[in-house]
This record gives sequence, C-alpha cells and structure tokens, in this order.
Amino acid sequence: MKNLLDSFEDYLLNNLPSSKTFHPYFEDALCDMLKAGGKRFRPMLLLSVVKSNKSLLLPNAMSVALGLEYLHTYSLIHDDLPAMDNADLRRGFQTLHKKYDEVTAILVGDALNTEAFGLISNASLHNDVKVELIKCLAQNGGINGMIIGQAIDCFFENQKLELSQLEYLHIHKTAKLIAASLKMGAIISEYNFEIQDKLYNFGIDLGLLFQIQDDIIDETCSSEDAGKTTQNDGAKNSFVNLLGLEGAIKSADELALKCINILNTFDSNLKDSLEELLLKFINRHK
Ligand code: IPE
Ligand code: IPE
Ligand code: MG
Ligand code: MG
Ligand code: MG
Repeated sequence: MKNLLDSFEDYLLNNLPSSKTFHPYFEDALCDMLKAGGKRFRPMLLLSVVKSNKSLLLPNAMSVALGLEYLHTYSLIHDDLPAMDNADLRRGFQTLHKKYDEVTAILVGDALNTEAFGLISNASLHNDVKVELIKCLAQNGGINGMIIGQAIDCFFENQKLELSQLEYLHIHKTAKLIAASLKMGAIISEYNFEIQDKLYNFGIDLGLLFQIQDDIIDETCSSEDAGKTTQNDGAKNSFVNLLGLEGAIKSADELALKCINILNTFDSNLKDSLEELLLKFINRHK
C-alpha cells in the first residue's frame, strides 16, 4: 500500500489546475510552485488525524488536504514578493516573480487562495462538515490568523518587539494554520469537540516550534540546502534575532519536549498516527 505522502503527491499531480487560455504562461505559473514540492506538512497533519480513526474517509479528505496546501502555497508566493520578504528561491526553484513577473506571482497567489475554498466545497463530505472546514480555514488563514501575523511581521521590520509580541506574531503567521490542519482532520473524522480543541491547542505549540525552527534554519542553512532564500531575516523579529542562536535553539528544544509530552497524552490511535510524522519535524533544526 502506498504511504500517505505518496498518495497525496499523486492526488496533487492528478488534480493540478488544468485550464488553458491564450495567456502565454499564467497556467504554467499556477502549477509551478505546487509541483515544486515542499514538505507537505499541513496536508500530512490533516490526513494523519483522519487516518487515526476514519481511514475509509482518506480518499474523501484528499481534496481538503489539497485545499490546505493551496492556501499555504499561496502564502509562500506572496511572502516572497519584493514588498514582503523579497526572496528569489523557493522550494528549490526561482520564485514566481523572478521567473515571470510580479503581477503573475500576485495573481497566482490570489487564485490558489480562492481555489483552496473551492476544493474544500467540492469534497465528497457532508455539507455541514464542509462548512465547518471552510470556517476553520478562513478563521486561521485569514484576518485573525495568518494575515495579521504577516502584517505584523512586515510592519515591525527593524523595530524590536517584546518576546510575547514575537510569540503572538509567530503563532498568527504560522501556528494557526498548522493548528487548523489538525483540527480540520478532527472535523472530518468526527472527533468530539474536546479532542478537536486538544488537537488545535497542540497545533499552536507545534506551529510555534515549527516557526522557531524555521528562524534557526534561516540563520544556519545555506539557500541551497534549504531550497529557499536564507540569511534573509536580518530586519525581522525572529527568535534568533531576539534570543540569539543559542537562545532560539534552547526555546525550540523546550517546546519540542512539551510537544512530545502532549503527544504522549493522546489516545494510542492518534498518537501512533501522528508520531512518525511529528518526530521527523520536531527536531528539524538539528
Ligand atoms: C515555510 O513553510 C513557511 C513557514 C510558515 C515557516 P514550510 O517550511 O512548510 O514550507 P514548504 O511547504 O515545505 O515549502
Ligand atoms: C512565512 O514565514 C510565514 C508565512 C505565512 C508564509 P517566513 O517568511 O519565515 O517563511 P520563509 O522562511 O520565507 O519560508
Ligand atoms: Mg515572511
Ligand atoms: Mg519569508
Ligand atoms: Mg523563515
């Protein structure tokens, strides 16, 4: 049997946006960053939760997982724009505004954002489940989620924030979408509200850890190894800039321990299903 990541990758490649118009390259640009790969962490979180108690629903969950990846990919394309982080490399390839032009990168991002919700609305799931999924993604990816995080991240360049404000920023720009990925898996699996909340709260810790590790990677990895522009956080409120590299690593290690302890409190189906995926990501700064 194919593993979950391969199944997701096949699903993504078989469901790429396929329109073709007389625009010379827009449709190619639309697919480039999706095809370029990436860790697929958010869809894998969602699918791992579904696998833990409703594995028969995995095929129905694929388009929801893909919607999540579309929204995340849009956030990366916009994050790299000259007005934001101004980065030339993403997922091992030239960023879209470099390869094509800024208009294309902006509009591909817009398209993937809208299409994310289209994909969820078309999933073979009950309508009330789909409304909950769309609500969760909108709440965490939108105004009070990723967007305000990105707005604060960019506005406060070259202005030092307090540690609590930096945590707020990282939780919004990154952790909320990661928490939503787990919760959306729980919504599809019809886990009760208590477990949905528990997974969401765990996702906030996990997502904060993920972004601290990302800050460490910016400092310590070459662009070639990371597949994206690194040493690019000089003006940012990153954990490395606020606490120093050693301080950031210490924070990551403490949070990693907390995440592993929380993981151990989940029932065995959930824990087993998430464990393999998480252990790979929990120490990715090492
Ligand atoms: C990068 O996300 C942006 C952050 C929120 C840290 P990922 O590290 O998940 O990027 P991909 O999807 O693997 O390219
Ligand atoms: C981006 O954070 C978070 C997003 C919402 C895309 P970063 O700016 O640190 O992500 P990278 O390092 O460019 O991947
Ligand atoms: Mg950024
Ligand atoms: Mg960036
Ligand atoms: Mg980064």
